[in-house]
Amino acid sequence: LHEDQDGVSQECRHLMSSLPRDKGWVVKHLFKYQGFWHTTRQVQGVLACQKLFQAQETDLFLVTTPKSGTTWLKAMAFAIVNRNRYPRIDHHPLLSSNPHDLVPFLELKLYVDNNVPDLTNLVSPRLFSTHMPYITLPDSIKDLECKIVYLCRNPRDTLISLWHFSNKLRPKTIGNISLEDAFERFCKGLSLYGPFWDHVLEYWQQSLERPERVLFLKYEEIKAEPKVHLRRLAEFLGYPFSLEEEKLGMVDEILKLCSFDSLSNLEVNRMGKLSTGEDNKAFFRRGEVGDSTNYLTPEMIEHLDVITENKFIGSGLEF
Ligand code: A3P
Repeated sequence: LHEDQDGVSQECRHLMSSLPRDKGWVVKHLFKYQGFWHTTRQVQGVLACQKLFQAQETDLFLVTTPKSGTTWLKAMAFAIVNRNRYPRIDHHPLLSSNPHDLVPFLELKLYVDNNVPDLTNLVSPRLFSTHMPYITLPDSIKDLECKIVYLCRNPRDTLISLWHFSNKLRPKTIGNISLEDAFERFCKGLSLYGPFWDHVLEYWQQSLERPERVLFLKYEEIKAEPKVHLRRLAEFLGYPFSLEEEKLGMVDEILKLCSFDSLSNLEVNRMGKLSTGEDNKAFFRRGEVGDSTNYLTPEMIEHLDVITENKFIGSGLEF
């Protein structure tokens, strides 16, 4: 992983010198930009996207809070949208590429480290992903009213997943971040793209105002009723399953292809790395609902639940 200030442009350094900063989970610092916490590298990527990324009307955006099942959502959306291009499941790109390589992050892959991507050869519809909060999204995405799928997960499991992930990415020399420390920072909103609750609320409100433009999904709900939500996702994206496809078992086939068990056992996801340096296997841990109860004390859970209730009060949103 890159050190905090490596390869950072003059413009970005200048901006960051005026931003609130605090301790990071993996790299030294987090900076608060437009109300949310980012690493240096992300701030630079976000600024580049805001300046350079030009959306097209047919673009589809997958937006998540970190560790809420982004990898899973990318796999499902990619499989849905491209099912006519790749009718043979035994030759499917998801068997040889990590979902993050098939659906690139705007600020973490395409525009990271001063990269200016060539997007001219991408087939339509272009599928992109981002963790950017709504307020930060490049203007053209909002102006063109592009479709956005937003996925989040209950804050307890999100925190535990983020804690494990951060410890995997932390340089060995600095050791692990303790659970108590991670918990305290998360509760204060001091986590990657946090405050978690503000991120979720922004997109929740957008989904209420414009349901045809923003689909709001929860990890737990997909886990509980995968078929229902895969169909919902396909319809929203504009690729509903036909009666014929339903009869052929296409819904089950896609769910199986994208399941935790199949993806996590593939060679590419056990041994491969992303171009941005992370091990593919870091994105697959347990993939279950409620694992946080194995780590958080009842007091911690209660504390977190009270924050969630207070933040979401009157919004109609619950976890
Ligand atoms: P856990 O750490 O709780 O296991 P993200 O993809 O946003 O980084 O989120 C990672 C979380 O999603 C991890 O949660 C990971 O195990 C889980 N995950 C990854 N692939 C999945 C899949 N195909 N189905 C369900 N969960 C998955």
